[in-house]
Amino acid sequence: MIVCDLQPPQLTSFYVCDVHSLNTILVAGMAVVDFLFEVDSMPNAAEKYQAHDARIVAGGGAANAACTIAKLGGHAQLAARVGNDLMGKLIIEDLQRYSVDCSLIVTTDGARSSYSSVLVDADGERQIVNFRGEGLSDDISNMESTNPAAVLADTRWIAGTTAAFELARQKGIPAVLDAEAPIDVQLLELSSHIAFSRQGLESITGSLTTVSAIESALRQLAQNNPGWFAMTDGANGVYSLYQSEFLHQAALPVDVVDTLGAGDVWHGAFTYWLGCGYNEVEAVSFANAAAALKCARSGGGRACPDLKEVRSCLAGIANN
Ligand SMILES: Nc1ncnc2c1ncn2[C@@H]1O[C@H](COP(=O)(O)OP(=O)(O)OP(=O)(O)O)[C@@H](O)[C@H]1O
Ligand SMILES: [Mg+2]
Repeated sequence: MIVCDLQPPQLTSFYVCDVHSLNTILVAGMAVVDFLFEVDSMPNAAEKYQAHDARIVAGGGAANAACTIAKLGGHAQLAARVGNDLMGKLIIEDLQRYSVDCSLIVTTDGARSSYSSVLVDADGERQIVNFRGEGLSDDISNMESTNPAAVLADTRWIAGTTAAFELARQKGIPAVLDAEAPIDVQLLELSSHIAFSRQGLESITGSLTTVSAIESALRQLAQNNPGWFAMTDGANGVYSLYQSEFLHQAALPVDVVDTLGAGDVWHGAFTYWLGCGYNEVEAVSFANAAAALKCARSGGGRACPDLKEVRSCLAGIANN
């Protein structure tokens, strides 16, 4: 295994190049409302529990990633589906506050939008119960008009992800899958970049208790697919295959306040940086910094940093 230090040589270009601030990233997948409760410890019995703080925030993997891209300076186009109900209105209003382009969101009369209960404990760990919604549309026709630099999609809306990845293939641009369980294997074939969560990879391979088991699992998947493979592993950082080398890029050490949405921020930042023309190693370093900064503050997946914050974080590492 090759252990990358946090400033791979390629990153030198990063400090001098201008980012294409209007780089468009198409994100397809889930947009939900999270009812977030901060508790001292996770409930484990059928009793009443008290939250010491609570908030209602719009969330969902794709929606959080789109907000991250917009905050980093990109043009984030979110393709998602909501019902014409209270939750749907809340989702769109909140995304617009983050400057996400909502023109591809399909709203269906009579459908029920998705929402979740999210508990965050004193260690920043979370427990989520999600209702996926009902009667939501599979109309993906409006995606055809888009012209993105890269595409990111989650595993929660198969028709949307399939359409977005087919568009990416036609245009020859990166198609990044946030591979969370349950994973439809057909989506793996359509992706050019697959970044599993640990749970996502283990849902395909079974339990991965050692680093060499992670390497074998990624290598086995790479035998049948020419794409780029990685697994994000929370505070352990990211394992990936890059030009046949197995790499480990450590997470940044931060005082963790809230890990909710870290993976979503990571995928948004990774895809944005790929779309800006950086390679996978550079994009992983960038995404690790963005996700760590997110973990150091509360607010779930919407607490993503802006480009200036990520840059100064990486510059701080480079100077140490
Ligand atoms: N405690 C932490 N400290 C520093 N960085 C973290 C921490 N947790 C997560 N990260 C960063 O975020 C990335 C993604 O996190 P993780 O692997 O937990 O995503 P996930 O399992 O998809 O979870 P989710 O999508 O629910 O946030 C990690 O690879 C790492 O770079
Ligand atoms: Mg995730």
